[in-house]
Amino acid sequence: MSKIRVLTVFGTRPEAIKMAPLVKELEKYPDIFKSIVCVTAQHRQMLDQVLKLFDIKPDFDLNIMKPNQNLWKVTAEVLLLMKDVIEECNPDIVLVHGDTTTSMAAALSAFYAKVPVGHVEAGLRTFDKYYPFPEEINRVFADAVCTYHFAPTDTSVENLKKSAIPDTHIYKTGNTVIDALLHTVENNKADLSYINLDPSLKTILLTSHRRENFGEPIRNICKAVLELVEKNKDIQVVYPVHLNPNVQEPVHELLDNKERIHLIEPMEYAPFSTLMKESHIIMTDSGGVQEEAPSLGKPVLVLRSTTERPEAVEYGTVKLVGTEKDVIVSEMQKLLDDEQEYKKMSESINPYGDGLASKRITEIIKKEFSYKLS
Ligand code: UD1
Ligand code: UDP
Repeated sequence: MSKIRVLTVFGTRPEAIKMAPLVKELEKYPDIFKSIVCVTAQHRQMLDQVLKLFDIKPDFDLNIMKPNQNLWKVTAEVLLLMKDVIEECNPDIVLVHGDTTTSMAAALSAFYAKVPVGHVEAGLRTFDKYYPFPEEINRVFADAVCTYHFAPTDTSVENLKKSAIPDTHIYKTGNTVIDALLHTVENNKADLSYINLDPSLKTILLTSHRRENFGEPIRNICKAVLELVEKNKDIQVVYPVHLNPNVQEPVHELLDNKERIHLIEPMEYAPFSTLMKESHIIMTDSGGVQEEAPSLGKPVLVLRSTTERPEAVEYGTVKLVGTEKDVIVSEMQKLLDDEQEYKKMSESINPYGDGLASKRITEIIKKEFSYKLS
């Protein structure tokens, strides 16, 4: 009997967090699956934090990250280097995740090698090719070359159907981010004392890293934070600053050494999950955080004008506020002052999954490739 050879490819922090539970699930059945992991290391330090937490030792590490890298180079390197990896390990299926350049280029590389690709977190759309950039086109592209579509929600299933993807290969699985979150929150009680937060103040957690927010938008976000902290003596802001130099420079320039603003290094996933749980309000432009915070019952103000994750917006726990300083300040002030509004937004809801997405995906792969097992 031969095994099903599954090559899982990822490169950035969010992909790693969302693929880790799937890698762990595949590893539970060594008689059925030969699980092979390739990291592109489009991120280095932020990827390694996740590999360590989930104890994943990659079989291939392409180690491509360069300081302030550009899209052309990342795309070209992943596309080319994945050719050799695919030829060497001869997989039955390649799994990619979401909408990063690693995902898009690895999917294309597998397609050129005529190896079927499974897209985890398929079908998310804003239907605006420049928002988010380049993620909207990365995921459209990945969906186009993939054979198996693991869509997290009904909305993502519908988006795929609208894109003329054959129904037979669309599976609603839930999002593996909830598998990762539940596992992490259950198994790790992280110590946050190093941040030196004041327990008598309300904590506002901030993350921002999107390319379309580089320049003026990110400066507006920082100015809004300064104004909010000045107006509200009972809040403190924690910002684990993404390592992208386009984020580091303006954020440190505007927010370094300000009272009740804590700029810290990107956090390991376990302490970050604890911090999300302990925060009063979250401001973010992150995709993953938009999915996680609602299940922890935390109101989220999204620092973007569109989202490919409309579910929590419909439930009312997530609100799009964009990147205009005055709008951010007034929306945050409303939440700080109006108890009813806060209560409405802090209901714990979870439209993104039940913690079993990785199990479902593993079962589907087993069924689709069962001929290998006979
Ligand atoms: C990438 C993804 C984005 C995703 C984000 C998650 C693309 C085009 N972008 O954006 O979709 O939302 O990751 O965080 O795929 N850096 C480090 N160490 C790290 C990580 C990054 O130093 O561990 C710095 C490097 O200078 C690097 C730069 O950040 O060149 C940009 O990294 P890159 O992956 O190109 O873009 P992100 O903005 O991180
Ligand atoms: N995250 C983390 N440490 C941090 C900030 C975020 O572990 O300091 C986690 C977060 O919980 C989520 C993921 O990283 O699971 C989101 O990554 P990011 O915001 O970089 O990317 P996006 O989801 O926007 O693609």
